[in-house]
Amino acid sequence: MRRRRPAAWAGAALAALLAACAGTPAGPPSTHAADDLAALAAQPESGSAWTPKPGWSSQHTMVAAANPLATEAGYGILRAGGSALDAAIAVQMVLALVEPQSSGLGGGALLMHAEGARVEAWDGRETAPAGADPRMLLGADGQPLPYAEATYGGRAVAIPGVVPMLEAAHRRHGVLPWARLFEPAIALAEGGFALGPRLHTLLEGETRLRRDPGALAYFYGPDGRPWPVGTRLKNPALAAVLRAVAARGSVAMASGPIAEDLVARVRGHAVPGSLTLADLAAYRPRLREPLCTDWLAVYRVCGFPPPSSGHLAIMQTLGLLEHLPPAAAPLQDGVPSAAWLHTYIEAARLAFADRAQYVADPDFVTAPGGDWASLLAPAYLAQRAALIGPQAAKAVAAGVPAPLAAAYAPMPDQPEHGTSHISVVDGQGRAVAMTTTIEAGFGARILADGGTGLRGGYLLNNEMTDFSAEPADAQGRPVANRIEPGKRPRSSMSPTLVFDRRDGRLLMTLGSPGGPVIIHFTAKTLIGTLPWGLDAQRAIDLPNFATLGGPVLLEAGRFPPAVIEALRGRGHRVVEVGLTSGLQAIQRTPTGWFGGADPRREGIVRGD
Ligand code: GLY
Repeated sequence: MRRRRPAAWAGAALAALLAACAGTPAGPPSTHAADDLAALAAQPESGSAWTPKPGWSSQHTMVAAANPLATEAGYGILRAGGSALDAAIAVQMVLALVEPQSSGLGGGALLMHAEGARVEAWDGRETAPAGADPRMLLGADGQPLPYAEATYGGRAVAIPGVVPMLEAAHRRHGVLPWARLFEPAIALAEGGFALGPRLHTLLEGETRLRRDPGALAYFYGPDGRPWPVGTRLKNPALAAVLRAVAARGSVAMASGPIAEDLVARVRGHAVPGSLTLADLAAYRPRLREPLCTDWLAVYRVCGFPPPSSGHLAIMQTLGLLEHLPPAAAPLQDGVPSAAWLHTYIEAARLAFADRAQYVADPDFVTAPGGDWASLLAPAYLAQRAALIGPQAAKAVAAGVPAPLAAAYAPMPDQPEHGTSHISVVDGQGRAVAMTTTIEAGFGARILADGGTGLRGGYLLNNEMTDFSAEPADAQGRPVANRIEPGKRPRSSMSPTLVFDRRDGRLLMTLGSPGGPVIIHFTAKTLIGTLPWGLDAQRAIDLPNFATLGGPVLLEAGRFPPAVIEALRGRGHRVVEVGLTSGLQAIQRTPTGWFGGADPRREGIVRGD
């Protein structure tokens, strides 16, 4: 049996996270440097700046997105009488233009929708083409390809799902006509938008995108440098694609010249993929049953079921904390205390062990006991919480929450990046939490012009790398999240809606980009706003903390030395890193809504 290279992408995952802090120029004053930055690879989507955000109040409606132009588009739609879903669609189309590195027409998304207390989970996750092979991300030596190699080119591209999913959700929850929702993005793509500092910074650090001639011509000037901040960038190719989708719907991307162009770019790439027109035509969005979990007696937290691991990992972690004695003072001088962090990290390590073992596309794997809720059962969590002591566990392994249909191998840690989050509430009791992605920053580094021959276009995802590169472990046990044709890769995206259990009213909509650490960013914001009582902005501002199951990752420069030393005293390996969240959250207040946007990115909130 093949010997597995130890955690081949786990190193890259940590490396990418570690390297992120090198790209975070202006956070709060830095008091500590990460130990081993120099040895580490580039972060697919790193930080760009720290901009303090005030938090925003409104009475009736609110939209929060990662870019001011996108927020403005959603706000305009709400003002025109659009629903929360209408606004989210307009936001997504503008994000495809102004934040192309994170999401767009070539990617996928998970969307939670609430109408009153009725909640739906819309799955627009990318899907492996029919020609996908479980070993396609292994090299000739049988080892996982280096992360940078695996994420590049046509091989990494999965069937995009965001447009068909939004179209299906719009049929049920749209108020304004579909085509109207594309107007803001088309106007900006044709008239031009000012290149922002974040996109400029990320383009500067990007090497592989320049190999795509269309991307080089669109994003970079004749000197090979990104166009300066403030340059008015027009994207006529994207405008043409948006016009086609506005007029004809998702079929415009599933057949005809736009689809043919996409397939040709994937199959004709120097690193070709297998995607076909038949794959595009066969794609179907899914309407899934959301997972809703009671928390702290008064809250009902609803999140996305598998193929996302987000809700399960968040609620396992929070549920484990409920079974442990609460820390006396969890926040000290505005920073989570070492005692609280120790317990949180130990709980999260247990949750990540179960995530690695069990979570994958439910069309291909069976949940323990046939029900994902088995992972959240109070008796199981009590049993797992008993494993947490005052010192860091030497090793953690998955539990057995219920009888298992198959024996899986745990999936090694892998990087997952890029991504953007949108939260919306409208004035008619509807709300959206949507997280959207092309995976790595700039995805597979392929810019598709829809066959128009015009300047610009949209980027294709590299979502195949959200599957396990390794199909099995050294004993031959399959990994649940291995590549299989027609399968959706496991996600960490955690679009979340919180309700008051007593009266069913929506209390919050929130989420974040960030790969696997989305889980921690979202958990932090839930804990910060609800039990700790901070407003959404102050909760988002809190220093980030995370683990993938091994070391404690702390946002660089945000934790006092005493906290770090106390964690080390409990046996943790502590590493300071960038941890560039992109949280957006809207919470109910006595007079309406209050929204927060992450100071680590460019988002803003608007509402009436
Ligand atoms: N590609 C990021 C995620 O799905 O978690």
